[in-house]
Amino acid sequence: MKDTTDIIKGFSRLAKEEKIDLITTLYATDAASANALLNSYMHADAAVQKTHDGFAENTLSNYYLPYGIAPNVQVNDRLYAVPMVIEESSVVAAASKAASFWTWRGGFKARVDSMEKKGQIHLYYRGEKAVFERFFEQNRDRLIEAVRPITDKMTARGGGITSLVLKDLTHIESDYYQVDLSAITMDSMGANFINSVLEAVADEMKRLFKEQAVTGELEVIMCILSNYTPGCVAHVEVSAPVEDMAYGTMEGEVFASRFVRAVRMAEICVERAVTHNKGIMNGIDAVVIATGNDFRAIEACVHAYASRDGQYSSLSHAEIKDGVFRFWIDVPLALGTVGGLTRLHPLAGLSMDIMGRPSASELMMITAAVGLAQNFGAVASLVTSGIQRGHMKMHLNNILLSLGADETQAAAAKEFFKDRTVSHSAVAEFLEKNK
Ligand code: MEV
Repeated sequence: MKDTTDIIKGFSRLAKEEKIDLITTLYATDAASANALLNSYMHADAAVQKTHDGFAENTLSNYYLPYGIAPNVQVNDRLYAVPMVIEESSVVAAASKAASFWTWRGGFKARVDSMEKKGQIHLYYRGEKAVFERFFEQNRDRLIEAVRPITDKMTARGGGITSLVLKDLTHIESDYYQVDLSAITMDSMGANFINSVLEAVADEMKRLFKEQAVTGELEVIMCILSNYTPGCVAHVEVSAPVEDMAYGTMEGEVFASRFVRAVRMAEICVERAVTHNKGIMNGIDAVVIATGNDFRAIEACVHAYASRDGQYSSLSHAEIKDGVFRFWIDVPLALGTVGGLTRLHPLAGLSMDIMGRPSASELMMITAAVGLAQNFGAVASLVTSGIQRGHMKMHLNNILLSLGADETQAAAAKEFFKDRTVSHSAVAEFLEKNK
């Protein structure tokens, strides 16, 4: 059993300075420098800091990530400069390069066919199935009517509940049913809307069940939206004649053919698919974070979607048909452009502004286009020069920075490592010799 003297009591009620003092004193190797470090990452403007502190609980400081831009992302004939928040070198450079490559070849063509999201009331009904089904069918309209105070505004904006159905799952688990809600939440991500509606529907259902003295026993276990959104998918594609697909020193036909085969490998091999999709998510997550959206929800959903046919597979596909190379992706992205952090985080607000205040469906298309661009950049490198060349160039910058190289040393190191393998020790040795 844990020694209770180690347990910190009432931590959340301490003032921020007290929390910092307590944690650094108890746990940091050097309390004074840990304290100074945490304070140095605080925003100079107390109001901005207060906003950030409010996003989560027990906040001690801020954790910075680079905020970059991929310019020249052409989606449906409109050029965007897309904000990307990511800590991995090469990602923004690769997305920018790939976006420009495609801007010269007609850009990304994108569409969103549906933006339906779902949530479920998970419940047990112990009784006669036919009785419960009749109860639900007879009361469905009343349930929808009862939640109008929550749904009216969304309906006026063009969204709202699109269906409410009872699902019988008793073949999987005894007495288990779901009330499955589908909704359109317009420009908001919709979690609060769907959860509020579900809880209100569940309350009304319990009330009616009792009022109508339905036989059997109803037990609502939980009400929650589903982050799996296969009905909220962006489709993005690019295409060009193979002769226009020359990449680096590689001829168009050779490059296109190698590229298609590399994508095929990700379609059929899980080991490759995960890495391939990780490359796509480098781009997608970066935009999702830059716009204050929930990247955990997006990640969880995307990977479930990549397994929808029973085997984890590539999210993107490529083909050559009649001399034309085509590369496309279908990706579920339940993004919002209003509400939540999208308005609260000043930089998320700026991201929206830089992209021209997109609607949620427009943001889905832009984000999917960056994912496809990222994937194109990664696979293009893999099937031509290999990934390490470009990666190491960026990595070299980081090493030089960390070793405190000045401009002259950095320029000399870049020249020296042009055709040599970059490693931390090799760069350190070079700098030592060229002081
Ligand atoms: C690295 O972050 C992403 C890649 O591994 C993606 C891929 O292999 O396609 C380069």
